[in-house]
Amino acid sequence: MLVSAKEMLTKAKEGGYAVGQFNINNLEWTKTILLTAQECNSPVILGVSEGAGKYMCGYNTIVGMVKGMIETLGITVPVAIHLDHGSYEHAHKVIEAGFSSVMFDGSHYGIEENIEKTKEIIAAARAKGMSVEAEVGSIGGEEDGVVGAGEFADPDECKLIADLGVDMLAAGIGNIHGKYPENWKGLNFDVLAKVQEVTNGVPLVLHGGTGIPDEMIKKAISLGVSKINVNTECQLAFAAAVRKYIEEGKDLQGKGFDPRKLLAPGTEAIRETVKEKMELFGSVNKA
Ligand code: 13P
Repeated sequence: MLVSAKEMLTKAKEGGYAVGQFNINNLEWTKTILLTAQECNSPVILGVSEGAGKYMCGYNTIVGMVKGMIETLGITVPVAIHLDHGSYEHAHKVIEAGFSSVMFDGSHYGIEENIEKTKEIIAAARAKGMSVEAEVGSIGGEEDGVVGAGEFADPDECKLIADLGVDMLAAGIGNIHGKYPENWKGLNFDVLAKVQEVTNGVPLVLHGGTGIPDEMIKKAISLGVSKINVNTECQLAFAAAVRKYIEEGKDLQGKGFDPRKLLAPGTEAIRETVKEKMELFGSVNKA
C-alpha cells in the first residue's frame, strides 16, 4: 500500500520505535526490501537519492516499478517512496511524478532561505497528500554527491523549521553518511534532546544509520528519533555476498552466470540486513 510517511511516523513516535528508510538502487533492491517489510509486517520507506533516481531512469520509472511490485507481490504493509536529500528542483519533480513523500534538504542555505523554500515545498506536497522532511545542520560525509560538513543543528533553527508543519525533521547530531571513521565521537545526545524538546513532537530523522552501535540507535529512538536511514550497509552486504559468489567460482558453474543467479546472494544479504534493522528499530509487527 503506497502511502505518505506521515501516519507511520506519527505512530512510531507515539509507540517509541522507528521506521527504517532503506535506499533503493535497482529492481533487486526494491523487491527484496518490499518483501522483507511484508515478511516482518513492518512499515517501510524506500529512499531515492537524486543519483539513484537518475540511474533508475527517472522518477516516473520508479513510481511505476514500486506500484507494480506492490500489486504483483501483494504488499499490504504501508510503503512510502521518498526523495532523499532532494534539491528544490528535484523536490518539485517527485511531487509531479507521484512519490508519496519528499525530503527537501535546504540545510546548505541560510536559515531564512531554508524556511522560504521549505514552506513552498510543503504547500506543493500537501496539495498531493505527500509528507515532507526538512533538514537543519548538515549530515557529515558524502552520499551520492551530497556532501556535508557535519555541523550540529541549532535547536532554535530546528524549531523554526518544525513550526512550518513538516512531518519529519532531520537534525545533524554528529551523524555521518557512509562508514564512521575510527575517531568518530558518537552521536551528540544533548543536541538531540534539546531539538526534541523544542520541536513539539515532530518525528525526528537519523541519517547515516550505517555503523551506529545498537545502543546509540536505541537511545536516539528514546529521544524522539522515529525514522532511521540506512543505505551503505545494504550496499556493503550486497557487494560482499556477490564477491563471495564470484570468488568461489560459482558464476562459472553451470548457468551460474545468469544475472538472476549472480545477484541472488546479494539480494539475500540485503534481506538479512533489512530484517536486522527492522528488529533493532522496533518496527516489526507495527504495520
Ligand atoms: P548511510 O549510507 O550511512 O547508511 O546513510 C544513509 C542515509 O542517511 C540516507 O540519507
